[in-house]
Amino acid sequence: MNKLAVLYWSGTGNTQTMAEAVAEGAKEAGADVSLLTCAEVKDISAFDAVALGCPAMGAEELEDSEFLPMLESIEPTLPGKKVALFGSYGWGDGEWMRTWEARCEEKGITLSAASVMANEAPDDDATAACRALGAELVK
Ligand SMILES: Cc1cc2nc3c(=O)[nH]c(=O)nc-3n(C[C@H](O)[C@H](O)[C@H](O)COP(=O)(O)O)c2cc1C
Repeated sequence: MNKLAVLYWSGTGNTQTMAEAVAEGAKEAGADVSLLTCAEVKDISAFDAVALGCPAMGAEELEDSEFLPMLESIEPTLPGKKVALFGSYGWGDGEWMRTWEARCEEKGITLSAASVMANEAPDDDATAACRALGAELVK
């Protein structure tokens, strides 16, 4: 069975809602899914696929007290796994996600599905896109 880790940070719950939808989509597709906050992330070597969720924080940045250190700790192990990104944003235009995608490319991490962004709380379309992302990662 495909094993997916959904690793996320969320301050006000929007990215958490997205993470739950990603996990549901993958479970429906028959995968073994672990939904983990940053503090819960230890060794991800057992996972075939990793979905990473973080909202736009700072000035179009990833959250830097918990998410970024967690990301830095696992990044060396991500090349070769199926990886996809998601997160919520507010007033920006998605710049944080473009920067994050470029960071992945620099580190040799190939994204296996289009990133999913939601403006604040995910609407029905964004929720469906999160579920599809989860299913795609465990195909
Ligand atoms: C400290 C802080 C910084 C933020 N910076 C940005 C930003 O640079 N661009 C943007 O579009 N939204 C920004 N936002 C809005 C959040 O990305 C948005 O509210 C998002 O839905 C929060 O997701 P969460 O509920 O998962 O924490 C910021 C919010 C906070 C609290």
